[in-house]
Amino acid sequence: MATDNNYTLAGVMGWPVAHSRSPAIHNHWIRQYGLNGSYVLLPVQPELIGDAVRGLRALGFAGCNITIPHKVAAMPLVDRIDPLAQRIGAINTVVVEADGALSGYNTDAFGFIQSLLDAQPGWRADAGPVTVLGAGGASRAILVALAERGAKEIRLCNRSGDKALALAQEFGAPVKAVPWEQRHEALADVALLVNTTSLGMKGQDPLELSLDHLPKHALVSDIIYVPLETPLLAAARQRGNATVNGLGMLLNQARPAFQAWFGLMPALTPELRRMVEATL
Ligand code: ATR
Repeated sequence: MATDNNYTLAGVMGWPVAHSRSPAIHNHWIRQYGLNGSYVLLPVQPELIGDAVRGLRALGFAGCNITIPHKVAAMPLVDRIDPLAQRIGAINTVVVEADGALSGYNTDAFGFIQSLLDAQPGWRADAGPVTVLGAGGASRAILVALAERGAKEIRLCNRSGDKALALAQEFGAPVKAVPWEQRHEALADVALLVNTTSLGMKGQDPLELSLDHLPKHALVSDIIYVPLETPLLAAARQRGNATVNGLGMLLNQARPAFQAWFGLMPALTPELRRMVEATL
């Protein structure tokens, strides 16, 4: 919903939010497509998220992104939740509809799948078993995305095994919980390995994982983007596996949100990639 003078406003609500790359991404597209609008940082304390989301319409916003720690708390604040976001259990995008109603979406699943397709245009979720490490919020979006795309077997390994079991129970087949200690053997026969844990992130311990069982044709994805090449991705690349870093998911999750607010699906250009990489 545009404001007066056809000026479209959007932003990102988070706490803290100062380091978000979203303004750089969306404002790049606003400039690239010659649009009239702006995407701003919206630092919102947890206890004020209700006031902030309900204020979007009055402030003339087309909508906003929702990031940590508000992705779950914002769900009951919108009028309608997209079924995919409902299954994921979190929203990262709010759209103010023409009638003023608020719709909640989750574009992380799209972002993840598209990042794999950008790296391997022929990629298919049903090409073979998948192993997913981690059972937090990002993992939920990725499990739903993979199941939606037809993955037949998803081996879910998490340090806290009860969380993996709970997710396997919630999502049902094809998700199967595998004990964290068995993560090395869980790489046998996989077509895809995904790290959603924070291990390997700048300032964190590396992920301890033997790649001995990993087939050479398997694609290895890490949703971390600082650093762009985690120790896991470096080890996978050195033994000849194709790899995908987390920048593609970050950039691609922004595209459907931009489309909902500004009316066109923006392109992920090498120039945009370079611009965001320079901020990492
Ligand atoms: P996100 O939203 O990025 O998914 P999260 O919900 O905090 O973040 O989830 C973090 C994930 O990294 C979890 O799967 C967590 O495992 P636990 O459920 O056992 O906490 C995993 N993780 C974080 N630190 C870890 C560590 N030192 N070893 C193994 N897994 C770790």
